[in-house]
Amino acid sequence: MTIRMDQLVRAISSALDIVEGELLGASTHHGKRIAVLSAAMGRKLGMDEQSLSALVTCALFHDSALTEYILAEKEGSNPALKLHCEAGQRNVEDLLYHVNIEGFVLYHHEQADGLGIFGKKEGEFPEEAALIAIADRLDVVHHFQRVPFDYLPEIRDEIMRETGTRFTRKAAQAMLDILTEDMLASLQDERIAATAHEMIPIWTADAEDRALFRLAELSAQIIDYKSIFTKRHSEEIARRALLMGKYYGYNKDEQMELYLAAAFHDIGKLAVPSAILEKPGKLDDQEFAIMKDHVRKTYEILKDIKGFEYICTIASAHHEKLDGSGYPFAKKAEELDFNARLLACIDIYQAVCEARPYHAERTHEQTTPILYDMAEKGFIDKAIVSDLDTVMHDYAKAANLPTQI
Ligand SMILES: [Fe+2]
Ligand SMILES: [Fe+2]
Ligand SMILES: [Fe+2]
Ligand SMILES: [Fe+2]
Repeated sequence: MTIRMDQLVRAISSALDIVEGELLGASTHHGKRIAVLSAAMGRKLGMDEQSLSALVTCALFHDSALTEYILAEKEGSNPALKLHCEAGQRNVEDLLYHVNIEGFVLYHHEQADGLGIFGKKEGEFPEEAALIAIADRLDVVHHFQRVPFDYLPEIRDEIMRETGTRFTRKAAQAMLDILTEDMLASLQDERIAATAHEMIPIWTADAEDRALFRLAELSAQIIDYKSIFTKRHSEEIARRALLMGKYYGYNKDEQMELYLAAAFHDIGKLAVPSAILEKPGKLDDQEFAIMKDHVRKTYEILKDIKGFEYICTIASAHHEKLDGSGYPFAKKAEELDFNARLLACIDIYQAVCEARPYHAERTHEQTTPILYDMAEKGFIDKAIVSDLDTVMHDYAKAANLPTQI
C-alpha cells in the first residue's frame, strides 16, 4: 500500500480549518494559506524539496493543538498561547520523526525583537518558524481570503516597517519577494485548494511508516475533540479495529487499512455544528439530516486521496445496514464487504458503550445484547457481533490496547 501523505495531510488540515472557523469565527482555510505562503518563501530561499515538505506540514498543522489553541485565543493569555505552541510542536514531531524540525511550530509566535511568547530574538529561533510566523500574522490581520488587491502597498509598507522588530529580516524579505497580486489572488477561498495542490510537495508513505500511524492517531484526536461526548470515540474505534484485525490474522497492510478507515470514519463530523452534536434532547428532522450528512462529508474529504480508495469506501459505509436501510448510499448486504460490516459493528459497539447526551456509559455486558438484537433484526452481521463479543470481552478485562501494527 502506498498513500499520498501530502494529500491526506491537506485533507486533514482542511477539516482543521473548518473547526477553527466554527469555534473562533476565524477565517476559512487559514492553515492552507500559511502552508502556501511558507512554501513560496521557502522556495525563494532555495530550500530543497524535503525541507519544503517538512516546512509545509508544520505550516498546515501549526495550530493543530486545538484544545490549547482555542483556550489561548479565548483567553489571550500567555500560558495558554505557550501551551498551543508546545502541543503543536509535539504533534508535528511525532509525524515528521524522520527530519529535524526543532522549533518550527514551537516558535511560530516569536518576534525578531524578542517580544514574542518565549522571548527568543532573531537568530535564536529557526528561520522556518519565522516564515510561518510572518504568514500567520499577516493572514490573521489582513484576512488574505478576501483582501482587495489595492491594499497590497499598505501590507508591504507594514512588512517593511516591522522588519527587525516583529519580523526577521530574512522572512520579511522573502515575503516581500513573493507577495504579489497574483499570489493574493491565489489565496482567495475559491482558489486556495487548487493553489495548495500545485505548491505542496509530494510525500508518500506505506503501511510500515510510523508517520502514517501517527497521522491517523492525531487526526482521530482532532475529530474526537469536536465534542465532549465523543472525546475518545474515533481513537477507541481505531484501537478496537486494530484488535479485531489482529484477531482475524490480517497482515500489516490489511491491519493498516482497517485502522485508517476506523480513525477517519467520522472526519465528516468536523463539519457538523457542535450545537447539533451536543444537543441533549432528540434531534428534529432537519438537525438529524445534518447529522447524517457527516458520512457523506467523510466520503467527500477522503475520496480523492491516492491510496485511500478502499479505505474511503469502508470509512464512509459505517452507517449502512445489511437490509439497505442505512445511509448515505443505502447500500445492500452484497455491496458491503467484511471490513465495511466490521467497522459498522465496531462503531455501534462504541456508540452504545460510551456516554452520550441521552444515555450513560454502558459495560460490555450491557452493550452486546443491543448489538445481538440489531443482528437479529437483519441490520448488522451476526457472526461479526459474536466475534466482537469474544474479543471485546477480553479487551474490557485486560485493557491492553494495541498501540501499533
Ligand atoms: Fe498559533
Ligand atoms: Fe495560526
Ligand atoms: Fe458516524
Ligand atoms: Fe462513529
